[in-house]
Amino acid sequence: MSKTYDVIVWGATGFTGRLVAEYLLKQYEVGKEVSWAIAGRNKAKLEKVREELNNAEIPLVVADSHDRESLEAMVKQTKVVCTTVGPYALYGNLLLELCVEHSVDYCDLTGEVQWMRRTIDAHHEKAQENKVKIVHCCGFDSIPSDMGVFFLQQEAQKRWEAYAQEIKYRLMGAKGGPSGGTVASLDNVAIEAKEDPKLMEEVILNPYGLNPKGEQVGKDVPDLNESAYDEDFQAWIAPFVMAVINTKVVRRSHALSHYPYGKNFRYEEATHVGPGFVNRVKASITATVTDALFNPGSILKWVIDQFLPDPGQGPSKHQRETGFFKIILLGKSADGKTLKVKVKGDRDPGYGSTSKMLAEAAVCLAKDRENLPENFGVITPSTAMGAHLLNRLQENSGVTFSVVEE
Ligand SMILES: NC(=O)c1ccc[n+]([C@@H]2O[C@H](COP(=O)([O-])OP(=O)(O)OC[C@H]3O[C@@H](n4cnc5c(N)ncnc54)[C@H](OP(=O)(O)O)[C@@H]3O)[C@@H](O)[C@H]2O)c1
Repeated sequence: MSKTYDVIVWGATGFTGRLVAEYLLKQYEVGKEVSWAIAGRNKAKLEKVREELNNAEIPLVVADSHDRESLEAMVKQTKVVCTTVGPYALYGNLLLELCVEHSVDYCDLTGEVQWMRRTIDAHHEKAQENKVKIVHCCGFDSIPSDMGVFFLQQEAQKRWEAYAQEIKYRLMGAKGGPSGGTVASLDNVAIEAKEDPKLMEEVILNPYGLNPKGEQVGKDVPDLNESAYDEDFQAWIAPFVMAVINTKVVRRSHALSHYPYGKNFRYEEATHVGPGFVNRVKASITATVTDALFNPGSILKWVIDQFLPDPGQGPSKHQRETGFFKIILLGKSADGKTLKVKVKGDRDPGYGSTSKMLAEAAVCLAKDRENLPENFGVITPSTAMGAHLLNRLQENSGVTFSVVEE
């Protein structure tokens, strides 16, 4: 069936959705190679966003998460819905259900693992039947991890004719800041986990919590939750707040691909802090703060909250443009060879780079559809889009993947 739009960005009145629209306008203009529209629940707010973007040609679509009719009308008009309406566990259910029902591809920025588990259980099979791609985690979590592993393994094959058996992700540096929407989403995960010990045990603390049921075993252990010394990097490391999402996405990709790296494949993530005593102390402090983020009701969490933004707010343009991230992935072969890959972003991770990654994922789903891997269901960025997404990211988004030659 012919569609009016390639992509509709739902949530364009929010902090991140607006950045996605800004990027699409700059990269693809309006009504040219990619036909796209902005959507939200409030027409006046959408008009204001359009005015601020200074382009009266951008089409507007009004749809509220609680109004089935408006959501269905939106879904039917487009090939892909790209949503930044979060917390997704609160506002995302009906949209996702309708995308599956109407065979409309979908991408989002959720990092809410509890919700992802629920969407997998409720929709994966039907989405496979309907040949729909439902792709969570198309931002800083988890594209650098998922596509970084994909890239590293391609390079390992070229060099070794074998895959790495173990990969370590180290966040070497980043500059940016959180938005109120992300804070609200993280808080929602922590609150749900605290209220439901089964969810904590079966999904959040389970390294394979997003794997298909019956396939939740492997060599990996729960994510790092204290400071430690890493011999490979000769440095102190600390827990990485997004590891709880990213590591599970990487393992789900592996499972959905039928374990090409072998059943003994291991993957973990941490923040690189550095060598020496001062960094040892910094690593311990980082571990304490990370722990508090997942501990609603603690005094430290209350103190941290005083410095965090409200929904709709986030890092300034200057902070985004001077922001960056740098990740090193270290792969090891079964016979001890090593390969390092660098993943870099030219904007702050959470918003500047995230909005470009999400927009490119949406465009990839819409424009490269015929050539994408034949994987459907509630899947991951690498299994949904593979090399096509990698190429678009490398060419357009300022997120680069390269081998570190040593
Ligand atoms: N994975 C990552 O790397 C990453 C990075 C950034 C953000 N995120 C996630 O992205 C999400 C959005 O973050 P944000 O900072 O952009 O949040 P935000 O500024 O609070 O924006 C939320 C958007 O949702 C809309 N909305 C709220 N309730 C709605 C409803 N009932 N129907 C339709 N729309 C509704 C809001 O519309 P109104 O303007 O009308 O209120 C707004 O457009 C969060 O879940 C966050 O965690 C993830």
